[in-house]
Amino acid sequence: MNVDGVPYRTIWRTESGAVAILDQTRLPHAFETVVLDDVEAAAHAISAMLVRGAPLIGATAAYGMALAMERDSSDANLKAAHALLLATRPTAVNLRWALDAMTALLSPMAPSARAEAASAEAARLCDEDAAICEAIGDHGLPIIRGLHEMKNDTVNILTHCNAGWLATVDWGTAIAPIYKAFDAGLPVHVWVDETRPRNQGAGLTAWELGRHGVPHTVIVDNAGGHLMQQGLVDMVITGTDRTTAHGDVCNKIGTYLKALAAHDNGVPFYVALPSPTIDWTMASGRDVPIEERSGEEVSHLTGRTADGRIETIQITPEGSALGNPAFDVTPARLVTALVTERGVCDASPEGLAGLFPEFARAA
Ligand code: MRU
Repeated sequence: MNVDGVPYRTIWRTESGAVAILDQTRLPHAFETVVLDDVEAAAHAISAMLVRGAPLIGATAAYGMALAMERDSSDANLKAAHALLLATRPTAVNLRWALDAMTALLSPMAPSARAEAASAEAARLCDEDAAICEAIGDHGLPIIRGLHEMKNDTVNILTHCNAGWLATVDWGTAIAPIYKAFDAGLPVHVWVDETRPRNQGAGLTAWELGRHGVPHTVIVDNAGGHLMQQGLVDMVITGTDRTTAHGDVCNKIGTYLKALAAHDNGVPFYVALPSPTIDWTMASGRDVPIEERSGEEVSHLTGRTADGRIETIQITPEGSALGNPAFDVTPARLVTALVTERGVCDASPEGLAGLFPEFARAA
């Protein structure tokens, strides 16, 4: 997508062959790129959330494997790189998917062929992710168009966390249909949940929507239910970090409460996802490993001061215990439909297997 007229992806190879990313811990206050020199830097970028969002975590892991192979393409290092990267974040299944895909390609090869093949495969996975996300946008567009035709007015869409292009290689998942609708001239307005504790909504979704010119309003996480009661939300759409084969959806903490409020108010609740986010080995959302992150994300806030400095402040009293589960699970029964690169389906085993029969059969 464009940043001030310049097209960007979230991860790319520079002309000198380095892997570059946008540092998302600095947005929205500073737009900075960081070069990843080795697999350790790629692992750090994922665990410290310089990159985040399920598809981008997978893409960064793929490039991490490529960097590892450039330094040492032995069997032992292939295994070590896989283990290092897999340990970075537990919930987004795209990480395991990308690492397994890289390992399946590389391990039968002669070590001397691995570096070049890994780099080409990482680039291919990135191109594929961008194409998948654009297709999600194309399949989600008719939902927004339908709502517009029904009310003949601006479509108000609520989203949680950041599932825009910053969370993927390009386009995004939940935000891709919104970009498509906006680009097609449909009047849309986005309610952006701030998404405590890391504020991916307030900092990242608001930033990228603003760069693209999409009208939006940042709200506190607790405002969504009230807005739905007032008839000010026509649909909710979120991304997901892991969707089970039965259609349960794990996403950023707070998503479940939005789904409950949407259900109570008759507001359709959609989830957009690329197929690598489906965990075909898991049926129930209760089995998804939920990442517990540092309490410091709850006790502290980072922002920009009036004179332009980026500062971190503490908001909780000394000594209070801190809990920080980073994801929750929305049961399939609360999801109106899933929007994928192959079309829209029910959040059910039949719905997913209908669109992806080859994966469902293999599981
Ligand atoms: O902790 P994060 O910022 O990596 O969480 C991201 C999300 O929860 C997104 O909604 C999800 O990855 C889907 S993004 C395309």
